[in-house]
Amino acid sequence: MSKILLIYKSRTGFTQKYAEMIAKNIQCDIYPFSELRKVSLSNYDTIVFGSRVHAGIIDSFSKVKKIAKDSNLKLVLFATGATTNESIEIIEGVWKSNLSPEELQSVPHFYMQSGMNYEKMGFMDRTIMKLMSKMIEKNADSSGDSSKDQMAITMSHDISSEEYIKPLVEYVKGM
Ligand SMILES: Cc1cc2nc3c(=O)[nH]c(=O)nc-3n(C[C@H](O)[C@H](O)[C@H](O)COP(=O)(O)O)c2cc1C
Repeated sequence: MSKILLIYKSRTGFTQKYAEMIAKNIQCDIYPFSELRKVSLSNYDTIVFGSRVHAGIIDSFSKVKKIAKDSNLKLVLFATGATTNESIEIIEGVWKSNLSPEELQSVPHFYMQSGMNYEKMGFMDRTIMKLMSKMIEKNADSSGDSSKDQMAITMSHDISSEEYIKPLVEYVKGM
């Protein structure tokens, strides 16, 4: 049986919530990314890493990738974002820009839609989001069809669900 370390990085709570739901369904030890340094990696053979998509980049994935490689651990990735699960092309784009062609084959990766939490966001993130909202508003004024995008990023909302952990949980159970 594989010994699994589940590491999550979460700023506004969505990824943490998903990580905790996953940890209830698989046998693993769970730690926030900030405590990864304290963990004895030799006790494990697999890292499941969860993080947010932040302006197209999976936060801290490159660091965890290196740690997994250096410690010879199998890596499983999940990413959370405000993009809906149905936006398959956008999600494919995220994978392609964060994983090399070789990693796309070797690192199992799962996307879980989450939402947006302005109340828990840091100052910088809130400022970036306000700018992006204004841009989308402008585009909506000229094209009239961006109302869904606007909804998705201009206000706090939660579109997460325990349903979305299932593919990852099934995968890990079958390892
Ligand atoms: C500045 C900023 C940029 C974001 N960029 C994206 C993005 O490119 N794609 C996406 O799907 N979600 C994006 N989001 C939404 C977050 O990924 C989403 O809220 C995530 O689940 C937050 O995770 P956390 O609550 O664990 O920190 C962004 C949020 C912020 C604040």
